[in-house]
Amino acid sequence: AQAVIVAIDGPAGTGKSSTSKAVATQLGLSYLDTGAQYRAITWWMVTNGIDIDDPTAIAAVTGKPEIVSGTDPAEPTITVDGVDVAGPIRTQEVSSKVSAVSAVPEVRARITELQRAVAAGAERGIVVEGRDIGTTVLPDADLKVFLTASPEARAARRSGELKGADINATREALVKRDAADSSRKTSPLAKADDAVEVDTTELTLAQVIECVVTLVEEKR
Ligand code: C5P
Repeated sequence: AQAVIVAIDGPAGTGKSSTSKAVATQLGLSYLDTGAQYRAITWWMVTNGIDIDDPTAIAAVTGKPEIVSGTDPAEPTITVDGVDVAGPIRTQEVSSKVSAVSAVPEVRARITELQRAVAAGAERGIVVEGRDIGTTVLPDADLKVFLTASPEARAARRSGELKGADINATREALVKRDAADSSRKTSPLAKADDAVEVDTTELTLAQVIECVVTLVEEKR
């Protein structure tokens, strides 16, 4: 079979990661979490004392950290200069700063290049999840899916993951991050014209996975 490229975009808390990993596993494809890459470069900026409110300062050091993503959906990994950052990139501090860093055009250019190289190297095909995969990173993807869900559903899922986090605070943080990601100038969060939109509000994870697997099989 030819390599199949699947782009899965959407706001935070719609089930992109869980869905993408499961679809990749079921179909024997590679997997790339592009949000983890933006989180990784944000973690590096924070760790190195770069002023997050200064896009010029961010742009000046964008090329410094070496970011490597493992693409096994059963065990996705992410390292910065050889250091495993899978844990540290999920902190609230990184979550609250990632939108500012990922809005810097130089950051997007660098990370987009990494993403295209990973996709080109995936012999059996790949599921790539993010915000601008269908619109900018891989506009020729075989299948584009745009996942949505109500803010309430997204906050409930995310606070479940964060075990006991306050649901109102979680919802506010998600809505704020989506607004920033959707309104930035360079490749904002957006549904590609040829993407299939799936509203997951009333669906179980298993139903969303089945729906996307069926869509991929229709394309093969
Ligand atoms: O998917 P996740 O919530 O981990 O993404 C973290 C952040 O990375 C997003 O809020 C967004 O600012 C940025 N991002 C992006 N483009 C992508 C993926 C993520 O700008 N393709």
